[in-house]
Amino acid sequence: MGLIPIRVETVGPLVFACLDPDAPPLATWTGALGEHVAAAGVEAWPLAWELTYEVEANWKLFVENANDGYHIPVVHDVLTDLLQAGTGVTTLEPHGAYTWAGINPAYVPPGEDPANARIRFGCIFPNLIPVLTPVDLTYIRVDPVAPGKLRLFVRSYDEPVRGAPLRDLRKQAFERTTDQDIAVVKKVHRGLHAAGLPAGVHAAQLEARIGHFEQRWVTAMAAALASPRPGQAALAVVR
Ligand SMILES: [Fe+2]
Repeated sequence: MGLIPIRVETVGPLVFACLDPDAPPLATWTGALGEHVAAAGVEAWPLAWELTYEVEANWKLFVENANDGYHIPVVHDVLTDLLQAGTGVTTLEPHGAYTWAGINPAYVPPGEDPANARIRFGCIFPNLIPVLTPVDLTYIRVDPVAPGKLRLFVRSYDEPVRGAPLRDLRKQAFERTTDQDIAVVKKVHRGLHAAGLPAGVHAAQLEARIGHFEQRWVTAMAAALASPRPGQAALAVVR
């Protein structure tokens, strides 16, 4: 009577565990993330800091917000300064999506080729938000706690020479930006429960990753309802 085997695979310092023997290999799920993390050399970067948050909102709203480029100039000051407006290039993958955006010249790390001075914002379906820059990798795992409550688990790794000296500054910028995101996500959660609002539409480019996430979610829910596993029986019942 052996222990139940658990599949484990990694992308840089991120360790993924999977209970489903039929799930595809991790690399087919994470798309180009592994290649981009390897090219940046993240494997050798130390853990810089960890944070957790609890937010009174549905988890999908935080994931959608993280996939949204439209709100950045309206909601964020630090992030807006950092990014070069209009440079975003988005790629949709079978199980995720990402956008590369240029870094403003004032913030390009010393010695960096300006052509490589860009940030990768991404989402691996359903709930992993990796953000990669030339000097750090930060990921947010968005955990559903209840229909109206989520938990964020955040870890950040930094490049030892150019990233680590900025560690405190980076953490402060992350906390400020995340507080701004949490404030709007909580408002969206309340707004969705207000009666009478018509459904919105997404901007074709800046919100393309949101629509992609929603399509993936609908597909996953339809598959779960069509062939529920033991752990998913409750989902079918409550529907
Ligand atoms: Fe944001």
